[in-house]
Amino acid sequence: DWTPGHVVEDLVESIREQVGEDRVLCALSGGVDSSVAAALVQKAIGDQLTCVFVDHGLLREGEAEQVETDFVEATGVDLVVVDARERFLEALAGVTDPETKHKIIGEQFIRVFEQAARDVVHDRGDEEHPVKWLVQGTLYPDVVESGGGEGAANIKSHHNVGGLPDDLQFSLIEPLRTLFKDEVRQVGLELGVPEVIVWRQPFPGPGLGIRIIGAVDAERLAILRRADAIAREELTRAGLDRDIWQCPVVLLADVRSVGVQGDGRTYGHPVVLRPVASEDAMTADWARVPYDVLATISTRITNEVEEVNRVVLDVTSKPPGTIEWE
Ligand code: XMP
Repeated sequence: DWTPGHVVEDLVESIREQVGEDRVLCALSGGVDSSVAAALVQKAIGDQLTCVFVDHGLLREGEAEQVETDFVEATGVDLVVVDARERFLEALAGVTDPETKHKIIGEQFIRVFEQAARDVVHDRGDEEHPVKWLVQGTLYPDVVESGGGEGAANIKSHHNVGGLPDDLQFSLIEPLRTLFKDEVRQVGLELGVPEVIVWRQPFPGPGLGIRIIGAVDAERLAILRRADAIAREELTRAGLDRDIWQCPVVLLADVRSVGVQGDGRTYGHPVVLRPVASEDAMTADWARVPYDVLATISTRITNEVEEVNRVVLDVTSKPPGTIEWE
């Protein structure tokens, strides 16, 4: 019979068998899969595991803290945080083309992670116990989709983390590769992973960088971060988190419109709410969020985020629209 407790026991045992005394590295993103995978490996081998979290500055309010503080407290993992916020901002300065943004963010991420991985190999490994394994949060549907890959493939063959240099050859540990998402969440709860992480909705790797339409800078990120936090708070308060697949909040940073706030004319930016309902993100419908919830979000954002004077709703299904705007 399937219980999260039994699954954890079995997986812990097989991870111990697999890695022996070797040291293990895990790239932590703050998402469900990498967090649960890390917590599981931590339970199995304790401080033989080191996690690396790259803070690219494109996360939402509270997310870096959830990883750096709450996750570490709950699991006791050895965490290396790389503060790469400046570096990403510099690389993105003035860039407006969506594909170029994706490419820059992906490349920077790999470079930063690569350097962190070298440092971990250097600092934590020794000849008898080299850093030999990399944890991946691959789930069963990913395995099926990619045609059932090899168990311990070279990292380069995997689509989530690619392009590591030849002198960093890790074998992969994919402890979640037999599980579906809902099972991963149950395993996460069993392991004491914080609920805000276990129930997290999908969030793109390039983060808020692809939710600012126009160039990304620190000020725009701060505006979007506040608007996004309000929308998330109200959707949660209304009990809609499990009905909505995700709700990107998008800042139209190069658009201004006239408004009136307090007793003055304003010329501020619009934000777009993009709540969607979906089974797998391949297709999606715009979610019918109750009007009163939309009204509360709109009122709060325009009251509390000075630079935003208009909130608009995206009522496009996928296709033809994608979920994200970039
Ligand atoms: P789209 O916009 O293609 O999004 O309809 C489908 C799902 O994928 C997420 N998404 C991404 N995730 N890197 C990611 O890790 C990306 O570049 C990216 N683009 C989209 C999106 O949030 C949605 O869940």
